[in-house]
Amino acid sequence: MLDRDELRAFVQRLPKAELHVHLEGTLEPELAFRIAERNGIVPPFPDVDTARAAYEFQDLQSFLQVYYAMTSVLRTEQDFFDLAWAYLARSASENVRHVELFFDPQAHLGRGVPFGIFAPGILVALEDAEQQLGITSRLIMCFLRDQPPEDALKVLRTAHLYRDRIAGVGLDSAEVGYPPALFKEVFAEAASYGMHRVAHAGEEGPAEYVSGALDDLGAERIDHGVRCLEDPALVERLVRERVPLTVCPLSNVRLRVVPSMAEHPLKRMMDAGLMVTVNSDDPAYLGGYLVDNYVEAAIALGLSRDDLVVLAENSFRASFLDDASKALHLEAVRLAASL
Ligand code: HPA
Ligand code: ZN
Repeated sequence: MLDRDELRAFVQRLPKAELHVHLEGTLEPELAFRIAERNGIVPPFPDVDTARAAYEFQDLQSFLQVYYAMTSVLRTEQDFFDLAWAYLARSASENVRHVELFFDPQAHLGRGVPFGIFAPGILVALEDAEQQLGITSRLIMCFLRDQPPEDALKVLRTAHLYRDRIAGVGLDSAEVGYPPALFKEVFAEAASYGMHRVAHAGEEGPAEYVSGALDDLGAERIDHGVRCLEDPALVERLVRERVPLTVCPLSNVRLRVVPSMAEHPLKRMMDAGLMVTVNSDDPAYLGGYLVDNYVEAAIALGLSRDDLVVLAENSFRASFLDDASKALHLEAVRLAASL
């Protein structure tokens, strides 16, 4: 058994990809307060400490309320650049080599911040990070499933100027009561533009939403998906079709999807033959960044070095990188693991 420091050093050294992280969920309170001040906005909390103390969530909904409130400080292209840059720099320092980053256009459009403000801010940060930090990325535009599908379709069409810079579409926000089938037409249109498709499913929602994301949306990956274990036939299908699941251990504990890290199904999912990856979801709110997620899960679940290597390998296998890039990253993981 490795102790915590050895584990952390090992995970830090492994090249990794992050495939499930919400840009807006990387907004640390310090940056939010700096941005609020320069925009002349009153922030949703009186100070940083009060904000952090409020990050105590009962469920997904109670988190989303705070997440959307904090997001409201973002107004200018520079704000979005600074937000994306801070996350990418932090990730590069954790030896994250590739990121597939979610963003929520409706969280900004609904406040009167247009695509022409947030998209360039994010895209320039991604380009700069690739040039200066060597971290590659893809952008995934998420639709808010608790908003009308007609809105999502409008957003998809509004995004046409940026479509060649947006790799795919996703589905997030409040899950229960909003089955994937609602977004069938939206995802079909996105597919017709050659965009990748992913969807949050089986976080708070039932296993049927996972099947629905595959069948109704053509999802190539499932975000979370932990509740698939409630349906053995679904697990068998996910294994057979090698559908990647982007699991977020610390998020699941903080949002009470699971009672504790010791009871997290990550290891059981790996043992069932599922293609599982580890991710941070909303690291500024939910207890940690990517290395923290690997380390906390490894300690609580007794993951071996080999398990950690499989998780790092899966992160590249499940990515939307081309095969040649995947092969290079997989080689780098094996090299780092052998040191
Ligand atoms: N689940 C659903 N929607 C979200 C999340 C999440 O974990 N984070 C940001 N939007
Ligand atoms: Zn998420």
